[in-house]
Amino acid sequence: AIAARIDRPIVLVGLMGVGKSSVGRRLATLLNLPFTDADDAIEEAAQMTISEIFAAHGEQDFRDGERRVIARLMEEDRGVIATGGGAFVNDETRALILDKGIAVWLDADLDTLVERVGRKDNRPLLRDGNPRDILARLKADREPAYAQAPIHVISVPGPHQRTINALLKAID
Ligand code: S3P
Repeated sequence: AIAARIDRPIVLVGLMGVGKSSVGRRLATLLNLPFTDADDAIEEAAQMTISEIFAAHGEQDFRDGERRVIARLMEEDRGVIATGGGAFVNDETRALILDKGIAVWLDADLDTLVERVGRKDNRPLLRDGNPRDILARLKADREPAYAQAPIHVISVPGPHQRTINALLKAID
């Protein structure tokens, strides 16, 4: 019933480790909508990993590519899109998402983020320091941008089901 009324892509935004990709994938399955991970789409378009793009071209070029890929996804997909943590912080990319999609800020406390980013080592921004310190700084810096999303869902620790239930309620 919800899916029938969703006429714009649901775009998950929020910090690294909050669970945008896993929650997004589950949500898309439940709503019977396509799912796209924007970071995967960027890697596919560039034929390079995110880490390679950062190392070879720097963050600014990555943000430009990210914006172009998200612009394309917003035109193509009537579904669920998970974005990389910095996408919604970029003014142009955020404007695009706010214009064409339903932005959902997936939020969690610092302990949860630190615990979850520990599972993967593919994030260039966490490479040069203590992940907790970096995440704490990014959280403070980025919150004003994330807060512009019309929907705010707190991701609870543990299995994603409770988070998904909260999200379904929020978009209903
Ligand atoms: C980034 C988050 C990453 C990825 C890149 C930069 C960020 O995505 O896009 O490493 O600036 O927060 P996840 O949020 O999926 O880790």
